Amino acid sequence: MLERRTVQSQEYRDAMAHYAGHVQLVTTEHDGVRRGVTVTAACSVSDEPPTVLVCLNKSNPNNSIFLESGRFAINALAESHQAMAASFAGFDKRDASQRFAMGNWDTISTGCPTLRDAMAVFDCNLIEHKVVATHMILFGKVEGLRVGPMQRPLLFLDRSWRSL
Ligand SMILES: Cc1cc2nc3c(=O)[nH]c(=O)nc-3n(C[C@H](O)[C@H](O)[C@H](O)COP(=O)(O)O)c2cc1C
Repeated sequence: MLERRTVQSQEYRDAMAHYAGHVQLVTTEHDGVRRGVTVTAACSVSDEPPTVLVCLNKSNPNNSIFLESGRFAINALAESHQAMAASFAGFDKRDASQRFAMGNWDTISTGCPTLRDAMAVFDCNLIEHKVVATHMILFGKVEGLRVGPMQRPLLFLDRSWRSL
């Protein structure tokens, strides 16, 4: 048991390791360039109108494309997508075209790359963004979606891939 009344960032990270997150790919496309990033910091904001948010590290210059494109898609991953999640997290140093070669991609409403066999896809136009600390929070209005078959989800817990 650990309890703190003041919090250092490493303690915060250790506590977050006890927080299970559904692993998702947030994707976009701008001027023919595609980008996807493995995230857990994405969730629902509202169902009326359908709205989601995702938090992306702004210190990574590659993430500015999400502001330039004005659109993003959230692809909720299944256990079978673990290798793809590792690749889109930069673990294997593949470039974007090699990363996207790993899955079957199409588009729904906005033109963002959407993963055909994701558990669920939320295809969004960017409506607002806010910078907080090291991250930018992107708010998206859900313009299109796809619901795939129920599968075992890919989770991240205790700094490891997990499932249910
Ligand atoms: C399980 C997991 C969850 C992550 N969640 C986030 C997140 O919510 N936001 C974020 O900006 N980066 C997150 N990352 C880190 C990015 O995936 C990673 O920094 C990025 O893809 C690497 O940058 P690159 O594409 O420029 O190589 C996460 C990584 C992993 C493995």
